[in-house]
Amino acid sequence: MATRRLAPPEVQPKSFDWSADSAVKVAFWMGKYPEARKQSAVIPLLWLAQKQEGWVSEPALRKIALDLAMAYIRVYEVATFYTMFHLAPVGKHHLQVCGTTPCMLRGSGDLIEVCQKRIGNHHHVTPDGLFSWEEMECMGACANA
Ligand code: FES
Repeated sequence: MATRRLAPPEVQPKSFDWSADSAVKVAFWMGKYPEARKQSAVIPLLWLAQKQEGWVSEPALRKIALDLAMAYIRVYEVATFYTMFHLAPVGKHHLQVCGTTPCMLRGSGDLIEVCQKRIGNHHHVTPDGLFSWEEMECMGACANA
């Protein structure tokens, strides 16, 4: 089963803040919702943080919680639920392999072995920064398995 956890503390940056470019986009997304519903911008803001840094760090989650006046745990829940958010640094080419039963029955275990052999353990980035991989739950592509 795929595990969704934040990167370990030694990998986390000390702080996070929006770049000037991202701050403009944050203001745009927050402006789309009434003040009392600004938490609805959580997914766009998580996406912007990932676009800016390449992944979503723990300080980024805290910054988003602060900006949206949300409890940190609520932002954490969203970030850890959606596999489109990288919770640790990833390679330029990040592979996601489905490890759910239909795909396992059709050989995704073999793909996982190849990834482990060629790239390393899941969430490991190759020294050249090109590749990383992770196991995921069903991607809704079961028919292709
Ligand atoms: S079980 Fe693998 S994509 Fe659905």
